[in-house]
Amino acid sequence: MSLLQSKSVLIVGLGLIGGSVARGLRRRDLCRTIYACGRDERPLQEAQNDGVIDGWATDIRKLAPQADIILICVPTLTVRNVFEQLKDVVSASTILTDAASVKGSVVDDFRAVFGDDCGQFVPAHPIAGSEQSGYQASTADLFNARKVILTPLVNTDPQALQVVTQLWQDLGAVVSQMGVETHDAVLAATSHLPHLLAYSLVNTLAHQQQTDDIFRYAAGGFAGFTRIASSDPVMWRDIFLANGPATVAILDAYLQELGHMREAIVSGNGELLRGSFQAAKEARHNFVSSHFSTGNGTEGHTPDVQVESLQQTAPVLTIDGPGGSGKGTISARVAQVLGWHYLDSGALYRLLGLAARRAGASTADAVALLPIIDRMRISFGPEQGSAWLDGEDVSSELRTEISGRAASEVAVHPAVRAALLARQHGFKQMPGLVADGRDMGTVVFPDAQIKIYLTASIEERANRRYKQLIAKGIDVNLTDLFADIKTRDERDSSRVASPLRPADDAVWIETTEIGIEQVVALVLDLVRQRLPSA
Ligand code: DC
Repeated sequence: MSLLQSKSVLIVGLGLIGGSVARGLRRRDLCRTIYACGRDERPLQEAQNDGVIDGWATDIRKLAPQADIILICVPTLTVRNVFEQLKDVVSASTILTDAASVKGSVVDDFRAVFGDDCGQFVPAHPIAGSEQSGYQASTADLFNARKVILTPLVNTDPQALQVVTQLWQDLGAVVSQMGVETHDAVLAATSHLPHLLAYSLVNTLAHQQQTDDIFRYAAGGFAGFTRIASSDPVMWRDIFLANGPATVAILDAYLQELGHMREAIVSGNGELLRGSFQAAKEARHNFVSSHFSTGNGTEGHTPDVQVESLQQTAPVLTIDGPGGSGKGTISARVAQVLGWHYLDSGALYRLLGLAARRAGASTADAVALLPIIDRMRISFGPEQGSAWLDGEDVSSELRTEISGRAASEVAVHPAVRAALLARQHGFKQMPGLVADGRDMGTVVFPDAQIKIYLTASIEERANRRYKQLIAKGIDVNLTDLFADIKTRDERDSSRVASPLRPADDAVWIETTEIGIEQVVALVLDLVRQRLPSA
């Protein structure tokens, strides 16, 4: 039995990390109760509605006395304030741990508040951030195959260490230990400096006169290199303030190196440039193959890339087809049987259509839609079709024909499709993904292992939609429905950007005459033929 099973866990700060811990604990049913605290009531209430936590409070002191383990997931410089609030209310046996990216400052803060008796404190750092933030971005699998570094102190209680180790391992992480100072120096070089470079590169370019042209012509490499400049500014401000000496030391070394490169360019010293690039190429090759070898003779990967590549290897089944062909029901069933993730890409376009309407923006105005995409907070529930927009359950509203039409209208804009691409790729995670939509097999996941194209006559599709909507208590007229589906089919198939069409390598399934169960069985057969281990 897991050491956690009988424990009550309190998570302070329900953002990306705290929310993902809560989701992971809940999904795997790892502990007795999960409580959360934070300043903002909205994510807390949302998490309780999602069934992810059992209760919450904005005042930490209310819940802390009942907790066996308190996990602090707030920005680095806020940790001390949390310690101060906990000081007089936690029992001597409560295990305290954190998830801050800098360990030296957190350990100093702990000592300043609690003194030298650090037995129950286990400093921890899950290396699992992302450029996304907030509870909305949290996932139960965030820590799968990710590294978590614990920096126990000389008098850390071995039992507390064991419990915290188990917590992260149960969430799928690979746990290791390091000294506090080593941790901060290593992270300054491998994580903090790259973030500083990304932020400063984007700012440098943004201040140039031809900014629009620069960003318009930026190639994919630029987007990849600067991805981390979308990270949470408060979190990163705190990291640099808390890890000042180590980050300045590595930054100085970097500036010196840049200075050499600059001199070489100014003096036209091609040999020096080529020599520097060659040395870097070799150094990279050596560290990659010695530290991240895959053992099969191929080049290994850096930790981040390692996780990304693990996700890259997740199998994908795409199911495309026109509205009413049964994609949604069949995809959700197949995903459930296989235990895979499910992406209802139509719901993303529906959510955008709804968000646009609420913001008073026209579905025809791509320029107005782009900032709405950036702002809209969306999440999906375990029930098929359940979705939240900005914290509100919009599942029913999303299924109406008005939402379908708005979705089809916003979906014609190439810029909108491009802006939604990364969110869709994010669903590709182990152990696999079933993705349904119009362009899953052609554009979003062109390398999918299995592609299916579902069709049915337009009469049959109109009939199915009619029955579905009536069953949900939504009042519709069959003739209007038929006309709506026809218009949507035409718009979805004739648009220039990613039109509805079968991928060349898709398997067609004509469903007019066959029922859902039969189609599900056909799809599962196909998956098992192509991927016997699924
Ligand atoms: O699958 P659905 O009915 O929920 O999709 C609603 C609309 O969204 C559909 O008419 C077109 C658009 N859509 C799209 O353009 N690309 C997708 N991958 C999914 C949906």
